[in-house]
Amino acid sequence: MLTVLVLNGPNLARLGSREPDVYGTATLADLAYVCAATAAELGLAVELRQTDDEAELIGWVHEAADRQLPVVLNPAAFTHYSYALADALAMRTAPLVEVHLSNPAARETFRHTSVVAAVADGTIAGFGFVSYQLALRAVAALVAS
Ligand code: DQA
Repeated sequence: MLTVLVLNGPNLARLGSREPDVYGTATLADLAYVCAATAAELGLAVELRQTDDEAELIGWVHEAADRQLPVVLNPAAFTHYSYALADALAMRTAPLVEVHLSNPAARETFRHTSVVAAVADGTIAGFGFVSYQLALRAVAALVAS
């Protein structure tokens, strides 16, 4: 069964207590459960990881490229300025979908720029955990096509 890496950047381990008015009250463990259930419906496996460390995240992106694994990525704040992450993602060898829980386009101006979007197959934002479920569906479609 194909494994999809669901990678999450800084501060996303704090879901549940982090700005619940923006990000909701469900936790990262809840997200892992939702992703696993959705993936199972699609005939995929998921491995959900989170880090606050840019170097660790880039290492996981390299691993995905080497193993030809699709990635669903919430780069969190790295979205807006990490050219190192964008360069790593440009080496990808399988589908990549950028996701966001909130809708960055409707928030502060600094969130309107994504340096990741140009190297992704597409971006899904603004739907909470449903963003991840839609991203997994997009990955399944991309893999099948
Ligand atoms: C986020 C949006 C980013 O702007 C922010 O820095 C995050 C979370 C989201 O999922 O809505 O940490 O990626």
